[in-house]
Amino acid sequence: MTANPPAADRAAATFLTTFNDSAPVLVQAPGRVNVIGEHTDYNDGFVLPIALPFTTAIAARPRTDGRVIVESEGFGRTEFRLVDEPRATSGWARYLHGVAWALAEHLEAHGAGGSDGRVELPGWDGAIATDIPAGASLSSSAAIEVAATLLFNHLAGSPADLSVADLARIGQRVENEVMGLPSGLLDQLASAGGQAGHATLIDCRDLSTRAVPFPPSATIVVLDTGTRRELVESEYADRQATCAAAARALGLTSLRDATLDDLDKLADAARHTPDLHLDPEVAVRRVRHVVTENARTLAAVEAMEAGELGELGRLMTASHVSLREDYEVSGPALDAVVEAALECVGCYGARMTGGGFAGGAIALVATDEVESFCLDVADRYVAPLDQPAVAPLRLYPTPPSAGARIVRP
Ligand code: GLA
Repeated sequence: MTANPPAADRAAATFLTTFNDSAPVLVQAPGRVNVIGEHTDYNDGFVLPIALPFTTAIAARPRTDGRVIVESEGFGRTEFRLVDEPRATSGWARYLHGVAWALAEHLEAHGAGGSDGRVELPGWDGAIATDIPAGASLSSSAAIEVAATLLFNHLAGSPADLSVADLARIGQRVENEVMGLPSGLLDQLASAGGQAGHATLIDCRDLSTRAVPFPPSATIVVLDTGTRRELVESEYADRQATCAAAARALGLTSLRDATLDDLDKLADAARHTPDLHLDPEVAVRRVRHVVTENARTLAAVEAMEAGELGELGRLMTASHVSLREDYEVSGPALDAVVEAALECVGCYGARMTGGGFAGGAIALVATDEVESFCLDVADRYVAPLDQPAVAPLRLYPTPPSAGARIVRP
């Protein structure tokens, strides 16, 4: 997240110097933070994200030979052919290639193909720039997926009017089927559908949404601890699998319908049905998190609407405790930065955000106190020795911002 100019201007400038021409198309998609409702999306539950003022932008012009050639600020040039398998493309460009595959499948399924039913998306020359730090739990990958989906669809002559849910599902298929991460829809829905000045309550069962005005007297401050963690994927897949098995054990389609009264029944089933491969105590803790987090998310919407910032902050901090104790997806740096934030004047609440283990946390801070809060928390935060960071603590006040869009034309 560099200060200025924004990613869209830098992508356009890089395009100009690289291809000696100005780009006819410019798209951008933001990162996100989730105010509350963590690890609930793949359980058909509730989430309450905001889109960030930081985006990933792509400036591009079409090619006619089915190749994609992209210059990325900071990551160099990459090139791939759309006829190849997306998995054959390595590094960050695999997201772009994955999007082309998932979008083509979406369009074919919706009858937008030619006489043989197939869709051939055009290649392009492009330049990409981002303000979203990777690995900070701010969904830089969802941003590139959503931006690339808008771009490919636009260059193909917009064969489909893609809804927010379509954009999100295409990005999710890239994660699930190309990148191998069984993630939910939270990140892509937030990036595609964010609204300035609002958080969005999303019911992940039917994808219905409600824009909730974000009280201007409070600001979300992102606290990027600079820690990054490999192997988060296997922990994530483990949580997801446990939730699915627990739902099955309770005879439910998803944990959305579980209640606290189900916990005894779950422990019993786990004890007496070895095929479930569920440790009874672990399963109870995981499900307790999901059930209580859904309730906290709905309560947070009420608190936000009523302008009850103290209550909203309390719910966010309770979410952190539940993620730390019951879901066990926090980490030493996230715990330390949350604790430091809670000691500062003007802080209503704080929690890890996103998948967890490392990266970023968030704090809800009185808008008037943001400046002193940032100094104070930087002063109080002691980076834990057992979790080395790749960068120092960075703080970003983040007003809720607009979702993805085609900037030009
Ligand atoms: C990651 C995933 C999301 C969601 C969060 C946890 O960001 O990509 O789908 O599950 O973790 O809430």
